[in-house]
Amino acid sequence: MQIKQWIACLSAGFLWVGSASAQAEKEQLQVPQCLASHLSPTYEVLAEDKNFRIIEVPSADLNSIALIADKAQCGRFVNVTHRLAADKKSEQALQLLQAPAPLKKATKPRFTIKHRTMVMDAIKQVQSTDILATLKRLTEFENRSATKKTGVNAANWLKKTFDGYAASSNKNVKSFFVKTGDNYKQPSLVTVIGTDLKGAGVLLGAHMDTLDGRMPGAGDDGSGSATIMEVAKIVLDMDLPLKRPVYIIWYSAEERGLVGSQFVVEYFQKHKMEVMTAVQFDMTGFRNDRDDPTMWLYRDYTDDDLTDYLAELITNYIEVPIGESECGYGCSDHASWTAAGVPAAFPCETDFEHHNTKIHTRYDTMDRLSPEHMTNFAILGLAYILELAADYEI
Ligand code: BES
Ligand code: ZN
Repeated sequence: MQIKQWIACLSAGFLWVGSASAQAEKEQLQVPQCLASHLSPTYEVLAEDKNFRIIEVPSADLNSIALIADKAQCGRFVNVTHRLAADKKSEQALQLLQAPAPLKKATKPRFTIKHRTMVMDAIKQVQSTDILATLKRLTEFENRSATKKTGVNAANWLKKTFDGYAASSNKNVKSFFVKTGDNYKQPSLVTVIGTDLKGAGVLLGAHMDTLDGRMPGAGDDGSGSATIMEVAKIVLDMDLPLKRPVYIIWYSAEERGLVGSQFVVEYFQKHKMEVMTAVQFDMTGFRNDRDDPTMWLYRDYTDDDLTDYLAELITNYIEVPIGESECGYGCSDHASWTAAGVPAAFPCETDFEHHNTKIHTRYDTMDRLSPEHMTNFAILGLAYILELAADYEI
């Protein structure tokens, strides 16, 4: 019930196409009641029901609210600022809470493994040294905060790196920034491989941002960001043609309540760019036991069939054990696609209960991560994209 309502609230927002945005210094968050009880009682409540409260907070408090949520461990917030027009905040906040659940799409794609020989060949190209080099550079920024110049620098570096690989590709490629509303200076980076291709695309994403202060963000989510860069490198370098566009995306402001991905989803909707499936790589390198290669599939805010398919890909191409877990809330950008009715999946490095305890601290460093784990995620990302998007006749 709670999950349905949460999705409903998010999806209602996607239907709203207004241009007004809230004042720069305040933002509105939808928080579970439990988390609300840990926050300052002075925050104005715009609307609430049994499960959620929509509150208005100073932008300057966002970082500390994220850290309070880490401690409280009873759900997270979703940033709904851009869904509320300045002059109708309370009314629209109530509408967000009351929105009905979205209808399930009648036709869903069928997922099968068809290209074994070709995929086996391609995955040989994955190089852990390249993943590590990308990750090292990402951790060298003081932080990659969506509110800081360093975050913008990180976005520019990712674009330059992707464009460098694209320059020698035989595919039609473009990359561009999608603005993260008016409250965040860091944009999301969207890339399209196969700009000439029609139809619904296959999408793979990670989030580039961290919180403020000294945040290497190696695990969260430098690891996913570096992993998808490796996938991009190989897809760009491949001779094989594609039959549908491939979207590889680095989201901004995930840590601020999935803000970047909500704007990216809106951008895709506005430009009628259809998405067949969306997979999120948020944390791909940490293992509690360095010798345990288990890959985890999260089952909430995700599509069952796509998640089952990723399990099949892991079994076929990586041959490691698979575990299942849940965040219990929309913990990363896959939730933004799920809310928009796009089948999404979230494979992750550990289960939720045993996640890397150093995330959101200065100790989220590279030495805690397994290159082999990240390599396996790159193989998964590549297999997912090639199986669904490569144009290949046996
Ligand atoms: N990488 C985390 C999500 C995560 C944490 C996944 C632990 C699996 C295990 C992500 O960057 C994050 O911090 N998300 C926030 C929620 C977001 C809506 C602000 C979180 O989980 O605290
Ligand atoms: Zn995080």
